[in-house]
Amino acid sequence: MSKNHQKVVLVGDGAVGSSYAFALMQQGLAEELVIVDIAKERTVGDAMDLEDAAGWAFNKNVYSGSYEDARDADLVVITAGAPQKPGETRLDLVDKNLKIIKAVVSPIVEAGFDGIFLVAANPVDILTLAVQKFSGFPKNRVIGSGTSLDTSRLRVSLGKKFNVDPRSVHAYILGEHGDSEFANFDEATIAGRPLKDWAAEAGVTDADLEEILDAVVHKAYAIIERKGATFYGVATALARITRAILRDEKSVLPVGAWMSGQYGLNDIYIGTPAIIGADGIENVIETQLSADELAKMQASAATLKEIAEGGFQ
Ligand code: LAC
Repeated sequence: MSKNHQKVVLVGDGAVGSSYAFALMQQGLAEELVIVDIAKERTVGDAMDLEDAAGWAFNKNVYSGSYEDARDADLVVITAGAPQKPGETRLDLVDKNLKIIKAVVSPIVEAGFDGIFLVAANPVDILTLAVQKFSGFPKNRVIGSGTSLDTSRLRVSLGKKFNVDPRSVHAYILGEHGDSEFANFDEATIAGRPLKDWAAEAGVTDADLEEILDAVVHKAYAIIERKGATFYGVATALARITRAILRDEKSVLPVGAWMSGQYGLNDIYIGTPAIIGADGIENVIETQLSADELAKMQASAATLKEIAEGGFQ
């Protein structure tokens, strides 16, 4: 990866993709951004609109392109896919989005891409596994957005509850990016003190914490019912992961990572903390879990395995 000129190819210029592109403009991430979508005219218009931000934000060569532009890209971000509709679960999207993923990955690999894939289309844990299988890329260079968005939602809620900056709340949502995700309340801390002590002092019960978790698990549905889709939260999570890769930050982030024995799990992608840098997932961290939390992680994985074992044709 050339340190002074970095190129990102965004595949999927819907609400999530466009919001992600805007986040890159605002944060000055990458010198070159290529937008690819079957709606070609939209990508041309979006690139024209985005470049207008360069006069006051950060300069960037942003343009409409094609899969061939991935040849010398550092990062390909895949947001292409049908979004959840009201009442739909993420897992309901698997068949139609697997077909889209296959149609996207093959030409990118054929173009000679040898960077890192970052996947955000849902069901993201299944589709991240599909990108790895269809591309044949090393597991560390295929990353899912995983529970990065969910973790932000949890930290925002806990930050409000305890009146602290969400970025100072060290708690994770782990497991599937979906209905079986869970929080590591037993290990979470704020300022090095157990979250459970903060809760006891504030009169926040375990039931209150479970209520916060439930709201996090179902927040996407609540947003979709009201505005039809979610995009700013996930786009910001994708930009955060992008920053760690492009700047080789070695940041610990909750992403969708390949399991090779962690938590007793193998051969799936699932939400866990990992060290993210220029080589993608540089180290998967098997974070400490209580027995109850480990059981939730394994149950969440079982949900994903059931779908994944349906195979990718
Ligand atoms: C959500 C979508 C991105 O959780 O899965 O908002």
